[in-house]
Amino acid sequence: MEESNRQITEFLKQSYGINVSKFDDSFLIRSLQKSQIETLPSSEKVYSSSLEKNEIEGKAFLESLNISYTEFFRNSLTFAVLERIILPSICLKKGKSKQKEIRVWSAACAAGPEAYSLAILLEELINDGNDKLNYRIFGTDQKNSQVKEAQKGQYVAANLNNLNLRRVNQWFTNKDDKYIVNQELKRNIDFSVFDLFDEQLGCPPASIFGDFDLVVCANLLFYYKPEYQKMILEKMGNCIAKGGYLITGETERDIVLKHNYCEVYPQSAIFQKMGYW
Ligand SMILES: C[S@@+](CC[C@H](N)C(=O)[O-])C[C@H]1O[C@@H](n2cnc3c(N)ncnc32)[C@H](O)[C@@H]1O
Repeated sequence: MEESNRQITEFLKQSYGINVSKFDDSFLIRSLQKSQIETLPSSEKVYSSSLEKNEIEGKAFLESLNISYTEFFRNSLTFAVLERIILPSICLKKGKSKQKEIRVWSAACAAGPEAYSLAILLEELINDGNDKLNYRIFGTDQKNSQVKEAQKGQYVAANLNNLNLRRVNQWFTNKDDKYIVNQELKRNIDFSVFDLFDEQLGCPPASIFGDFDLVVCANLLFYYKPEYQKMILEKMGNCIAKGGYLITGETERDIVLKHNYCEVYPQSAIFQKMGYW
């Protein structure tokens, strides 16, 4: 990282208490360059001193590092494999076990579509002959504002593009220009704030003991440096139940494959810890 970027990193840490040094260098540089272009098309040095003088500029830059883009049923291949193979096999296993609860953690859930997509699949499976089973999804994000949005569960039509009409009609209520998630889908999801770098907590306190059949940690690993990716993957690994699965974004597959996981179906971004495969 160039010296001016190091200075910016140090300044942001001191001024706002936010340690941006966890972020991958190329992501940080790209974000800095983008902010520079959008706000002040001049040299890095000038931009860095403008960050130091201008609190609004500093906060805007920090905000630009928080990418919260999300979609329902993001990555269609992952969700197809989940729907047709992974979740039915989890249901089969749970059907034979004493523990009838399917436990899921959506570990960086942004405004909620990932957790609601998983709930839709689980509701459909439970209603389709697995009525002795139940499920609990813990949706967490480091940003309180995202968690509040997720709890609200209100979306606009454009957010629902990946859902077929049957699912939209069944799981949402349309009011004015909003689509509101039905209570039936919300009742088994617990949304809360959780920072994956929290050194005290290994899993969301609401889940009490982790032991998840499925942990989804998608589209955030690539923002962080390798040592922090490792920390997150270790945390996930410690709370996945025996034989459980980890899911990431499709562009993060190579990161996970370096850490003792194997992909259960090619290109699916669905993994198990080595030894369970
Ligand atoms: C690009 S969104 C991805 C949302 C969703 N998982 C998906 O794939 O559509 C990344 C999310 O990760 C969250 N995030 C980033 N760093 C985090 C951390 N250290 N702990 C918890 N959440 C984090 C952000 O707040 C953001 O909502």
